[in-house]
Amino acid sequence: MAKSILITNIEELVGLHQSDAVLRGLQLANLPVLRKAFLVIEDQEIAEVGTMDALDLNHFKGSHIIDASGKFVLPGWCDSHTHLVFAASREEEFVDKIKGRSYQEIAAKGGGILNSARKVEEASEETLFTASYNRLQEISKLGTTTVEIKSGYGLSVEAELKMLRVIKKLKERSSLQIKATFLGAHAYPSAYKENHAAYIKLITDEMLPVIASEKLADFIDVFCEEGFFSPQETEQICLAGKSMGLPAKIHGNQLHLSNGVQTAVKLKAISVDHLETMDAASITCLAQSDTIGTLLPNAAFFLRMTDPPARALIEAGAAIALATDYNPGSAPSGNMNFVVSQACIRMRMLPEEAINAATINGACALQLQNRCGSIRSGKRADLIITRPISSLAYLPYAFGDSCVEQVLIGGMPIL
Ligand code: NIG
Ligand code: FE
Repeated sequence: MAKSILITNIEELVGLHQSDAVLRGLQLANLPVLRKAFLVIEDQEIAEVGTMDALDLNHFKGSHIIDASGKFVLPGWCDSHTHLVFAASREEEFVDKIKGRSYQEIAAKGGGILNSARKVEEASEETLFTASYNRLQEISKLGTTTVEIKSGYGLSVEAELKMLRVIKKLKERSSLQIKATFLGAHAYPSAYKENHAAYIKLITDEMLPVIASEKLADFIDVFCEEGFFSPQETEQICLAGKSMGLPAKIHGNQLHLSNGVQTAVKLKAISVDHLETMDAASITCLAQSDTIGTLLPNAAFFLRMTDPPARALIEAGAAIALATDYNPGSAPSGNMNFVVSQACIRMRMLPEEAINAATINGACALQLQNRCGSIRSGKRADLIITRPISSLAYLPYAFGDSCVEQVLIGGMPIL
């Protein structure tokens, strides 16, 4: 058995949920902590937690000891929505947006998703892998220990499969826990602009069977939005995915009231993500369902959009997760610490609500709640150790200032 690790003198051990169930509505504010605590790691898992006054050091002779005096220990961030496999950044569009062009105008002129698709098509699997692996290294230093990665910059049979094979290789080589989502329905390639049925057929008849047989994806996603995929098209694609064992996670209600929420709920999707453009009916519909609403405040911030109505969703009783949407077009940052700050600053989520949304509810949005997202014996020892800080609220308060001092993935220090 590998040497055990003992973390002592933890100022606050955060996120000791008794249940792995998703937190909804007012439950989101409940973030159980243990003050002056210790935590034991054995065989990559959390083995035991308790308060320092109950610790018998004689039991831990030979263990590796980490002294966490003044420091907080949290579950690693579970970032349940990223597009971090891409070939190139798009800062030229960023400048266009500063000059006043809208996201839709840029997309209509062959920029946006199609711009990234051209670059992915030209890139080798090796180049894509190396760039994406480096991004994983960077986000893990910021405290992300579990991450979802989407395809969707391929948009042809070959390029979508290339992206998914890169993600499969990342799963094998990276210490982060990774889930793969097939997003072939991210945009219509130019050649199919007038022939949606033919592209959908390519997805259902050419891409999905290979994805299923090579086990290249865990979920299916569709960009349900005006000018992209209609609710009917979304349904057709997600049902084909479901028949191959892929639950749905949907991009909805980003730019318009696209009926993305209603479509996701009808499909019993695991999550519907974005939600910048919501009305009362969409809020009620989501709150009365088991679908998680994943908010991506970095995308709203970067595109200068109205923030998702986090408070109204929480008050209505919805389950909320937070994620980065890390991608080159609308959110070129994989920093979950900034997401948590933004959720508090711009969407008025309480620090406890934001941390729950970025950990246990993010894990639920990936169906990984039995492995990560909270501090419980038997879960993988994916942990953030902060530098000494004055309180938990200091984390989102000190935006832009990294309080993450050490990160453990499966008990292994990566920082
Ligand atoms: O989640 N909204 C759709 N897709 C991405 C953006 C993709 C891009 O602009 O490259 C998003 O924001
Ligand atoms: Fe996205």
